[in-house]
Amino acid sequence: MGCRRFVQTGTVVCVAVLSLVSRHGSVSAQSRAPSRSLTATSTAAPSSAPGIGTFEPSLGDYAAKHQSINTAFKLNSTFFANLSATVVPALQKVSNGTFDIKPIAQAGGSKIESASDEYDYGQVLGLSWKFYEAQRSGKLPANNSIPWRGDSALGDKAPDGSDVTGGWYDAGDHLKLNFPMAWAASVLAWGFIEFQDGYSSSAQTAYAADGLRWVADYFIKCHHSDVAYTAQVGDPGSDHATWGRAEDMTMARPSWDLDQNNPGSDLLGQTAAALAAISIMFEKSDPNYALMLEAHARDLYAIGTTFQGKYSDSIKAAYPYPSSNFLDDLTWGAAWMYRKTGEQQFLDDALNFWERNKDEEGGGGYLAWNWDSSIWGADVLLAQLMPHPDPKYGSEVQRFLEAWITGTDGITYTPGGLAWGNQWGTLRFVTNAAMIASVYANNVQSTDPTMSHRYSCWARSQMKYILGDSGRSYVVGFGNDPPTHAHHRGASCPPETGGLGSNVPTCDYSDFSVATADPNIIYGALLGGPAQDDSYMDSRSNYQQNEPAVDYNSGFTGVLAYLTGSPDSWDQCVARGDVVHTPQKASNNGS
Ligand SMILES: *[C@@H]1O[C@H](CO)[C@@H](O)[C@H](O)[C@H]1NC(C)=O
Ligand SMILES: *[C@@H]1O[C@H](CO)[C@@H](O)[C@H](O)[C@H]1NC(C)=O
Ligand SMILES: *[C@@H]1O[C@H](CO)[C@@H](O)[C@H](O)[C@H]1NC(C)=O
Ligand SMILES: *[C@@H]1O[C@H](CO)[C@@H](O)[C@H](O)[C@H]1NC(C)=O
Repeated sequence: MGCRRFVQTGTVVCVAVLSLVSRHGSVSAQSRAPSRSLTATSTAAPSSAPGIGTFEPSLGDYAAKHQSINTAFKLNSTFFANLSATVVPALQKVSNGTFDIKPIAQAGGSKIESASDEYDYGQVLGLSWKFYEAQRSGKLPANNSIPWRGDSALGDKAPDGSDVTGGWYDAGDHLKLNFPMAWAASVLAWGFIEFQDGYSSSAQTAYAADGLRWVADYFIKCHHSDVAYTAQVGDPGSDHATWGRAEDMTMARPSWDLDQNNPGSDLLGQTAAALAAISIMFEKSDPNYALMLEAHARDLYAIGTTFQGKYSDSIKAAYPYPSSNFLDDLTWGAAWMYRKTGEQQFLDDALNFWERNKDEEGGGGYLAWNWDSSIWGADVLLAQLMPHPDPKYGSEVQRFLEAWITGTDGITYTPGGLAWGNQWGTLRFVTNAAMIASVYANNVQSTDPTMSHRYSCWARSQMKYILGDSGRSYVVGFGNDPPTHAHHRGASCPPETGGLGSNVPTCDYSDFSVATADPNIIYGALLGGPAQDDSYMDSRSNYQQNEPAVDYNSGFTGVLAYLTGSPDSWDQCVARGDVVHTPQKASNNGS
């Protein structure tokens, strides 16, 4: 059943890892691993196919993007040095770490009355899961509900030939990128566990559980042998040089593994977190499945902690999502392993990684919670899980949220009231911060109502901006004036009158270039979002403002579940004086 004892330093080889995973057969890792010739594949430079930089960001664009994001969200140590000097007096105390963890309920459990509210958050929650269904790769089940989607990428294989079909396409393209995919899955599962009232009152429990089982099944396939885990399928060069439907793809789809020679602690930590969280979800409804997920989570965690390194150093083709560090991801992974198993070793690991991460990064590193920076989520989880309340983790979360709420450092407020951080997909940053606010608010609801209301109402204000208060919706297929030109291949292609997979009529660059609206509506996709002055261009060529991605929708989905299940309302936020920023119609948001 995997490695139960392991080391954190990587200096001692985990014996259990190398003899683990009996389900992969009896061949030992020592005899198998050296015979596999992964290095050549794993280090191959990405191809530079024509089209790069025309339809998609170039390699240089990606580098500039990450530079800009890391700079924009850089921590201001002055602000962080003295929380009490910068926040409202009511918040000068730090929560004592008393959190209210609710036991996980059975699917379809207690119903609550959804507050009649400014938007039907439960409806958007269902649509958000439609987006994840539309991103599915592989053989679709008979109950697929996306009419324009069919089977695709049925030949996806690990470097050793193992089947790695399934999973989700990353964004508007057809790459399967397990780093952002794992992060998104862990955040979605967290929202599911934390906000069950919202899921059950909107009747989305079964659909969401299906969605997370889909991605967990893929992660299990990717763990195809002993210490080898497939981390990416598809080459950004050749994928991005083509425009068309997933069902019609013909280009080669190479894949890359992580293993003892190609470490990827960040990606494996994230995947362990996702599988541990999804295992918690299925404990009651499918205990055998939950056990299997736990076993894989243990193995992958052990591999990630034993062979330490950044996955994007091991896999050159991973340049769209380069990892800055891995200690935050291991903290997140260890914290989830502890929540799942209750085993002290995982908590010890989490606290140890947390300290090391702080030393290396001066705390959270930067003010974004995303696939490259999972520490803020880990802070909340540690505040929840510490057997003896320790205010240190909760206080980090408060600092993070106060920076977002007050608009400090890289965060500014648009005239329409959006907390804005970066021209690349700014809405995912704010919705991820709103997810942190939602979980925190939910947990301190009874012990610290003042703080709970402040964070909850802030999250609500930002969601209101996104769903329509700004004058338009940023969610495809929902609300007033939603986007109609998503930077998404499948959405832009005409229906296949010749049958799914026929490429009749053909879909290619001309469908990218036409000015007409997307023929397929990719319901529930949260797009990148507006510029700093609320302006926004609903154009297919605008991948900064108009692309969806599996990580973009993840925190967003959790906040929707929170608001769906919350008895609070905007009117009450206003009446109590808990509103810091009022979202409003922006003069500048015409499409
Ligand atoms: C950092 O934060 C402090 C306190 O909020 C503020 O006075 C200062 O101007 C900020 N510095 C920068 C470089 O943004
Ligand atoms: C933090 O700010 C408070 C309020 O302004 C002040 O009383 C306190 O001395 C400051 N602490 C530090 C360490 O600067
Ligand atoms: C859809 O079909 C799959 C495979 O048969 C099944 O596991 C799943 O529960 C179904 N989903 C729903 C929402 O009915
Ligand atoms: C933390 O605060 C809660 C609520 O005020 C209180 O019930 C609890 O006893 C406190 N715990 C500690 C360790 O101070």
